[in-house]
Amino acid sequence: MTPKSAEQDHVLIFDTTLRDGEQSPGATMSHAEKLEIAALLDEMGVDIIEAGFPIASEGDFNAVSEIARNAKNSVICGLSRANLTDIDRCWEAVKHAPRGRIHTFIGTSPLHREITALDQEGMIARIHETVAHARNLCDDVQWSPMDATRTEHDYLCRVVETAIKAGATTINIPDTVGYTYPRESADLIAMLLERVPGADTIIFATHCHNDLGMATANALAAVEAGARQIECTINGLGERAGNTALEEVVMALRVRNDILPYRTGIDTKKIIGISRLVAAVSGFPVQFNKAVVGKNAFAHESGIHQDGMLKNKETFEIMRPEDIGLAATNLVMGKHSGRAALRAKLSELGYELGDNQLKDVFVRFKALADRKKEVYDDDLIALMAEASLNDEDAYLQLRKLRVICGTDGPQEAEMTLSIGGAEKFIDATGDGPVDATFNAVKMLFPHEARLELYQVHAVTEGTDAQATVSVRLMQDGVVYSGQSSDTDTVVASAKAYLNALNRLVLHKHRGNLSALMSSAG
Ligand code: KIV
Ligand code: ZN
Repeated sequence: MTPKSAEQDHVLIFDTTLRDGEQSPGATMSHAEKLEIAALLDEMGVDIIEAGFPIASEGDFNAVSEIARNAKNSVICGLSRANLTDIDRCWEAVKHAPRGRIHTFIGTSPLHREITALDQEGMIARIHETVAHARNLCDDVQWSPMDATRTEHDYLCRVVETAIKAGATTINIPDTVGYTYPRESADLIAMLLERVPGADTIIFATHCHNDLGMATANALAAVEAGARQIECTINGLGERAGNTALEEVVMALRVRNDILPYRTGIDTKKIIGISRLVAAVSGFPVQFNKAVVGKNAFAHESGIHQDGMLKNKETFEIMRPEDIGLAATNLVMGKHSGRAALRAKLSELGYELGDNQLKDVFVRFKALADRKKEVYDDDLIALMAEASLNDEDAYLQLRKLRVICGTDGPQEAEMTLSIGGAEKFIDATGDGPVDATFNAVKMLFPHEARLELYQVHAVTEGTDAQATVSVRLMQDGVVYSGQSSDTDTVVASAKAYLNALNRLVLHKHRGNLSALMSSAG
């Protein structure tokens, strides 16, 4: 049999940063942030964008609908549980796209069958009914047996066959809990291609979580066995330890094309820009030594490595920084730098800006350059992260902050916040300037969230360096992260705190996605 999946050497990239990624605790994104990410994913050549879970909330529905309307090249997909109401709602959102897709799923492993109170036959009937319903609405239907890697093989073959017969055009095999191992991942796809009637007519997808750090390896092994769609997220964002990272599989397929003779349609030069955007808006910073996109991924510290690099870059680099959109540069920016120089510099750093965006960033840059003599690359990266937080839409916004501090306490913070459009003022005291500032926020916007982490790091060196502040809050078991940068550490602290609270407000507004996922069925 020549399976459809294995006929082609093109591997489809299915990005689920806006659905599975956004589901990770604390990574809630605003409407405007989702649109911005979707536009970049589309532009960089992602084949399918999973834009959200339309039944989850009005906000999710609106985001998926608008992303669908704006789509240029990518297929826009929405997720739905295995019931007709979810599927109808999903279709209502994705139907606006030039090419829409309904993705429906149900947990098929023994553990999940128990939760949904369906026996094997009952589940088969449900799968047939829901997939056929989706296919009546849309020509492009993806079906997933959640927890496939812990589903009995005979039963997995039966459910996949049922979905194919009911009209599914893509079958996704999720390793929902990051449990599988590369050889097993490959064997599973090979087994399905071999045993399931009709398997040669559809595309198999792989969706791997990273609980044991094997998501990328498992996804690539599935491709070698015949899968032709990889589900992944930018920076590997996702539930628990995250998903397969888009940048890792795409660069692995490119760098090791000698043994993985497949191609994707991704413009790899756009990788670093979107990685930074997702890190900024999700509040999940990229670890320094993260493969491909970490700050140190192309840094060479040891003498031997530096010496080798000077003689021949290939001694210690298997890919070039410019392949992912990074370029080495010596240009230091300052208050005399003009708009064209800023645009060129940002482009070197992986940011391509439209005229309006450049205008806004230039104003921020000038304000920073007025306070700081020399503006380094890391300052600009922090500034871009700040600019992407879409403050104008935020529920809580810092209008003014004046702090009185010094040897004689108590320290005092005078603060004006805009809360849902209304301005409020308070004068609060505390044990130090940050404590006074946080007390002011709490008095103006009372909440139950507990502060789990407060961290400051200097973006560059010198006493005029910007500080990046990270804040992590916890409420009802959910984590909300916030980040901000400023040359004034207390202002950065206030803004990081508000950034985390804004995510909390968004999350409350949208309802709890995880609860929806666990009731899947
Ligand atoms: O991990 C998973 O099983 C999922 C499914 C909804 C595809 O995200
Ligand atoms: Zn998942």
